[in-house]
Amino acid sequence: MGERGQDVAASQKRFLAPFHGEALDVPPIWLMRQAGRYLPEYRATRAEAGDFLTLCYTPKLAAEVTLQPIRRYGFDAAILFSDILVVPDALGQGVRFVEGEGPRLDPIRSAEGLAQLDAGAAVAKFDIVAETVARLKQDLPRETALIGFCGAPWTVATYMVQGQGSADQTEARLWAYRDPEGFQALIDLLVASSIDYLDRQVRAGADCLQIFDSWAGSLPDDEFDRWVVGPTREIRDAIRELHPSIPVIGFPRGAGPTAVWYVSETGVDGIGCDTATPPFIMSEAFDEEDVVVQGNLDPLLLVAGGSRLDERVDEILDLMRGKRFIFNLGHGIVPQTPPENVAQLVARVRAGA
Ligand code: CP3
Repeated sequence: MGERGQDVAASQKRFLAPFHGEALDVPPIWLMRQAGRYLPEYRATRAEAGDFLTLCYTPKLAAEVTLQPIRRYGFDAAILFSDILVVPDALGQGVRFVEGEGPRLDPIRSAEGLAQLDAGAAVAKFDIVAETVARLKQDLPRETALIGFCGAPWTVATYMVQGQGSADQTEARLWAYRDPEGFQALIDLLVASSIDYLDRQVRAGADCLQIFDSWAGSLPDDEFDRWVVGPTREIRDAIRELHPSIPVIGFPRGAGPTAVWYVSETGVDGIGCDTATPPFIMSEAFDEEDVVVQGNLDPLLLVAGGSRLDERVDEILDLMRGKRFIFNLGHGIVPQTPPENVAQLVARVRAGA
């Protein structure tokens, strides 16, 4: 294996090279939410599907929107088009996406509510998503890796308990304090369902998995350990058992310095760094860990564009040179992003600064 990682033959797909120990001169790049409303072709397919969840459950259309950003930008990885709330939906909790408002769910706040969910019923919808993966396996260029994903149990639970997105996840945090055993039952169900969901994605062809823990940052250390680290480690262990060669990236958004502990305790193969992670943490804090670092350009700088965008990209590339690194944003692309700024970003990263 070349010291500077010119030799990607071992993995075929450049995206996977860092997981095989290679630090590439030009890091692989993909962007969270790379399929989405900033692309006119996404908006057209979304209109054809009508409803967001219908888009997620129509393999032909879900595969099409997964491919759209690959055709435009040639990212090193595609991410399956689905949503983290597909899991509660498949379990039988009513999930709707209200135009301009985001997700709405019939909140679950007790053992009785939990008893209404049915893990057996989830299989049918998971199979539809697996069909999208199988299509993508056929349609993606050979050099493009396919990332499967799920939401982390904690983050998915915050939506299930609150019934919608929220600034501070109050209802889930209160349930966890007042009735930890009851809340544990919800988390356990999500751990089991997430393992099943990810396993199906890998069996259908996913090359890598990411666990999105968007609200990991709302918990103090003891609660973080129980609800973020523990369940993530269970999922990571189960996937390693089932599919030893499939890397798992964790994205504990807002974890701050605790992200280092998260890595060592969960055993994830990659760590997604959020926008607020200082560059020296990205470049140094994970040195003792056997982990690939991913991140962390501000999605709003991608909206702003211009020379400031190029400068920051160069700074990140300089800092991460010689490291096992994947270029990404610190959170998802926002809808007002000009598509030409994404092209500018990809060109800058590929130029290697
Ligand atoms: O990254 C990709 O391109 C793949 C698909 C993907 C979507 N959501 C599509 C989507 C992925 C990986 C997600 C993850 C997701 N979904 C997260 C974790 C990452 C994060 O952003 O923190 C969360 C918390 C959700 C839940 C969710 N889905 C919310 C809160 C919303 C509404 C807000 C919004 O951006 O509209 C969604 C809807 C959603 N998921 C859209 C897309 C493209 C927009 C739906 C539309 O077309 O109207």
